[in-house]
Amino acid sequence: MRRPIVAGNWKMHGSRAFVSELLAGIKEGVTACEGVEVIVCPPFVYLDQAASLLEGARVALGAQNLCQVSGQGAYTGEISCDMLRDMGAGHVIVGHSERRNIYGESDALVAEKAIVAAAAGLTPILCVGELLEERESGQTEQVVGRQLDALLQREEGAAALEKSVIAYEPVWAIGTGRTATPEQAQEVHAYIRQRLAQISQNLADGARILYGGSVKPGNAAELFGMADIDGGLIGGASLKAGDFLAICRAAAS
Ligand code: PGA
Repeated sequence: MRRPIVAGNWKMHGSRAFVSELLAGIKEGVTACEGVEVIVCPPFVYLDQAASLLEGARVALGAQNLCQVSGQGAYTGEISCDMLRDMGAGHVIVGHSERRNIYGESDALVAEKAIVAAAAGLTPILCVGELLEERESGQTEQVVGRQLDALLQREEGAAALEKSVIAYEPVWAIGTGRTATPEQAQEVHAYIRQRLAQISQNLADGARILYGGSVKPGNAAELFGMADIDGGLIGGASLKAGDFLAICRAAAS
């Protein structure tokens, strides 16, 4: 039995006041989400504040990105895995489609980031997913397979994947209100698991694969009810405590 995960990706949203209010709401309601691993991923600058507010709460902290170079150095504007750990983060989102598409992160760079994060003891939340035109031209599996292969082609790749959570996020469903149907999502999740089984059956059986893309309180239970969907990566709906908690409860039941 895989333990479900619900992770909130706050993206570039928040302020000190907003973080306090949102986390107070989440802390209050999270006790009703027994058995679910709940994670919030605020912007870097609020990690420290969030870590203090979450002390003793059953909510883990994650970041949204990291530098592919560990240690310290001349990398203006970047944040290292060690800094994230120092701030109390245990997870980090890697290869979100906004990083891939707006900031040009390649499959190889994403793989490097996942390897560096895993080696530092962070749990990478590795995002994969196809663009609308790729789905429409029947290339979904090819694209998702290529994104996973970038990691598997690396010597340290399988070890990094073992420590990772995978998030399938069809790009056309992110922030659009257009969710993949549970069947569409399940199909790709099963494909990902089958791909992992080529490395090891244990890896495939244990891997937690989240769905992301317009998950809301109204559609979460149906999505999470599918055999290979182990929870969700939530954008917009993670910014409202009530919605986020309703999604967490859907994962618990
Ligand atoms: P959304 O975002 O829930 O707002 O669609 C999901 C994500 O980008 O992780």
